[in-house]
Amino acid sequence: MRKSGFFAALALSAAIATPVMAQMDVEDQIKTRQSAFTFAGWNMGKIKAQAIDGEVAYNEKQILAAANSIAAVANSGLGSLFGPGTGMDKNDNTKLKPEFFEQPDKAREVAIGFAQAATKLQQVAANGGDKAAIAAQFSEVGKSCKACHDAFRAK
Ligand code: HEC
Repeated sequence: MRKSGFFAALALSAAIATPVMAQMDVEDQIKTRQSAFTFAGWNMGKIKAQAIDGEVAYNEKQILAAANSIAAVANSGLGSLFGPGTGMDKNDNTKLKPEFFEQPDKAREVAIGFAQAATKLQQVAANGGDKAAIAAQFSEVGKSCKACHDAFRAK
């Protein structure tokens, strides 16, 4: 049983239970998930600058675009980029801890946490994007990123 709970959870969260394309090779899975997280991080940075730090003027349309992008990553079926053999025990260019494959319940929990928090941020942004509400939910998304990093990303 190599199919992780994480895979199942994110596949379900994308409402797609079957593969949408042939499985990518290990290198491409690693590169693609790193790009996805980098892109999510870029969008988190925009919200932080506007809703938390205030170093950039608050712009509801930009906040909504960023929240949509983060939710899109979270609900894209990311789990299929965490296939067998993509951990740091077998590759030099990744920080995915092998524990990921040994703790499917924990993997499922953090994956669902991310998807739920990101989807809620998207909803808050779509419902007018009140700055205080965005800031509060942004913090919840940040916690969901950290929960997974603490468990499964090497320093
Ligand atoms: C389900 C687990 C999980 C969640 C949720 C998660 N990450 Fe990560 N993140 C990882 C793992 C694992 C890596 C290392 C990937 C690798 O090296 O293959 C990573 C890597 C990264 C990287 C570095 C990418 C690179 O080029 O190496 C950034 C930036 C990042 N995450 C930001 C975020 C942000 C921001 C969020 C929340 C919006 C988030 N992550 C949510 C697991 C997660």
